[in-house]
This record gives sequence, structure tokens and C-alpha cells, in this order.
Amino acid sequence: MSASKNEDSNIAVKRFTFEEKSLTLTVSVPEVLDPQYGMYVWPCAVVLAQYVWVHKAELEGKTVLEIGAGVSLPGVLAARCGAQVMLSDSADLPHCLDNCSRTCGENQLSLPVVGITWGQVSTNLLRLPTLDFILGSDVFYEPEDFEDILFTIVFLLRRSPHAQFWTTYQERSADWSIEALLHKWNLKCVDVALESFHANTEHLAGSNLPGSHTVQMMIISLKEPCER
Ligand SMILES: C[S@@+](CC[C@H](N)C(=O)[O-])C[C@H]1O[C@@H](n2cnc3c(N)ncnc32)[C@H](O)[C@@H]1O
Repeated sequence: MSASKNEDSNIAVKRFTFEEKSLTLTVSVPEVLDPQYGMYVWPCAVVLAQYVWVHKAELEGKTVLEIGAGVSLPGVLAARCGAQVMLSDSADLPHCLDNCSRTCGENQLSLPVVGITWGQVSTNLLRLPTLDFILGSDVFYEPEDFEDILFTIVFLLRRSPHAQFWTTYQERSADWSIEALLHKWNLKCVDVALESFHANTEHLAGSNLPGSHTVQMMIISLKEPCER
């Protein structure tokens, strides 16, 4: 990862470089130097981005939504790998929606950015097309939001029954769990071992992330994906 200062002195651009044999792809992420959530790349984001990179062939031409995207590293990487990507963050946090757009601009992309607040059935949510994949890195960080997040995921999966939710989760407390909610919403959850996509290291994409944080990768889908 390399970093450079933008003309706005509050913004530093970090570069994440993904490599596979002779193939190299760099995503630039402007981080606002502000302690608010969603302003910088979280350890989970680079792990999910690594999963996206290793599975890029599955994403080509597919419709992808990133939720709680913040600076949008996984979503922008998916777009650079050929997916049709929409980025979203809370409709109530316009500065986070600005971050999504800023990362697109830094990577010469113009992706749709929509306000989608977990737990709310909004016009933006209803207008989304059929999805193939939903991405969410470090969205499970506030237990009081877990039910709202999974409500939104179930709403989207019922409209796109064969879609998958690819998500990374940072272990912050042994007491936190989404297991009861997965059961309540009849969801299937597959834990993906980090070593299976070469993410079992403290340094990914030339960065100092995920560092020593414990991050898990999960794929969540409907248990019974019957068509509506
Ligand atoms: C810990 S940050 C993770 C950001 C980014 N995905 C990453 O990993 O770098 C959590 C993100 O969730 C967003 N968020 C918080 N509450 C939300 C809500 N109620 N609905 C939708 N997004 C929300 C925040 O704005 C922020 O971008």
C-alpha cells in the first residue's frame, strides 16, 4: 500500500494492490482523516476485497450491491473486476455516501451510489434491480443493528433468491452472535477459512491491514431459495 496527500489536506489516498501471477490491479481509496466511522478502510474491508479478488471470475458481468460501504474498497474492486456495482451507505449519513462517490472518482469510475439504511424499506431499496451478490464489510459492529442488517439482507435475498451475501466480520466480543437471527430468518451461513483465499496474513494488498485483528468471512444465503 502506498499513500499520498490529496489537495484537500484532510484526505490521504491509500493504494491497495492485488496481484495474481502477472495480473496486478490497484484500487485507490481516499480516506478522510476524521475519527468518524465509514471514513477509512477497516481491517474487514481488505479481507473482503481479497475474497472478491480471488473470486473475480464469478463476479464478471454480475449485479452487485455493497451495503454500509463507507470508502467502498470491496465494491470498487468488484467493479474494476467487471461487475455492475452499486454502492450504498446509510441514507442518514450523507458524508458516508460522499465517501463512496469519492472513491469512485479516484478510480475513474462512476458507480451509482444510493442511500440504503438498514431496517428501512425505502424507495431506494424497492428500486434495486435483481442482485447476484451483496457485499458488506464490517457491518456487524453494533449489536443493536444486527437485526436491522439481516432484515435488509433477507428483504433483498427474497427478491433475488439466488443471491449471496459476502460479508466479513471483526470479532470484537465473544458475546456477540448472529446465530439466533440466522435461524429466525431461515438463513444459511457458510464460514470461509481465510487460508482458502490467502487472507490468513496480517498484510494484504500491500497494506498493513487487517493487522492483528481477528476477521471472519461468511457467505449468507436463503436456506430455501424458492422463487417469489
Ligand atoms: C465500520 S464501518 C465499515 C465501512 C466499510 N464497509 C469498511 O469496511 O471499510 C460501518 C459502515 O456502516 C455504515 N452504517 C452505519 N449505520 C448504518 C445504517 N443504519 N444503515 C446503513 N449503513 C450504516 C457506516 O456509515 C459505515 O460506512
